[in-house]
Amino acid sequence: MQVSEAVKARRSIRAYLDTPIPDELLKTLLEKASRAPSGGNVQPWRVYVLNGDAMDRFKRHVGECSEPETPAYDIYPNKLKEPYRTSRFKVGEDMYALLKIPREDRGARIRRLMENYKFFGAPAAIFCYTDKQMGPPQWSDLGMFLQTLMLLAQEAGLDTCAQEAWSSRPETVASFFDVPQELTIFCGVAIGYKDPEAPVNSLVSDRQGVGEFATFVR
Ligand SMILES: Cc1cc2nc3c(=O)[nH]c(=O)nc-3n(C[C@H](O)[C@H](O)[C@H](O)COP(=O)(O)O)c2cc1C
Repeated sequence: MQVSEAVKARRSIRAYLDTPIPDELLKTLLEKASRAPSGGNVQPWRVYVLNGDAMDRFKRHVGECSEPETPAYDIYPNKLKEPYRTSRFKVGEDMYALLKIPREDRGARIRRLMENYKFFGAPAAIFCYTDKQMGPPQWSDLGMFLQTLMLLAQEAGLDTCAQEAWSSRPETVASFFDVPQELTIFCGVAIGYKDPEAPVNSLVSDRQGVGEFATFVR
C-alpha cells in the first residue's frame, strides 16, 4: 500500500468487529511507528496496550470507576473560534445524521458518546501518555507517532480511532495500568477491524481546501 493510499483510506472508525488481533501484530506496529520523528529525538510517547483478556478486564474496571474525575486537559479552547467551531460542529452533526439521532434526543447522543468508553467495540486499544514535563513541541511529537501508527495499522488492514475522550477519565485509566505519577494521558486509540455494515463507519469528514489553510507567497 502506498503512503497516499493509507492516508486516504484512514478514517476514524466508530464500530468494530470482535475479530481478535494477535499481540505480535500490535507489537510490530508499535515497533514500526517508533520510527516517527520527534524534536531532538526525545521520543516522548509512552504507550499502554490493551488486548484480549486485558481489554475485558479494563472494561469491567471502567464500569467500577464511577467517581467524578478532573479531566487531564481541556480538549478544545473555551469559545473555539471560527472556522474551527463550525468544523467541529459539522462533523458531529454529520455523524449523528448517519446514526439517525436528532439534536433533541440528548439521551441517545449521550449514550452514543459513551461508546467511546467501550472503544466502539474494538478488541484492542492503546493509550498514549507523555511526561508531565513535556510542552507543545513534544505533544506535537505524540501526534506524529499516532498518525504513523494509524497509517501502519491501515497498511496491516486494521482500522483505528484516536480518542481524546479518555482525557476525561485520567484516574480510571492510570489506576488500571498503575501509570507512574510523572506521566499524563494524551488519548486512547481504538484498534480493530471495522464493521462494514455499521452506518457510522460510512462517515467521510470534510476538509478545508488548500487555499483555506495554506498561504503561497509568490
Ligand atoms: C487526537 C485525536 C483525538 C480524537 N478523539 C476522538 C474522540 O474522543 N472520539 C471520537 O469519536 N473521535 C475522536 N477523534 C476523531 C476525530 O473526530 C476525527 O479525526 C476527525 O473528525 C476527522 O475525521 P477522520 O479521522 O475520519 O478523518 C480524535 C482524533 C484525534 C486526531
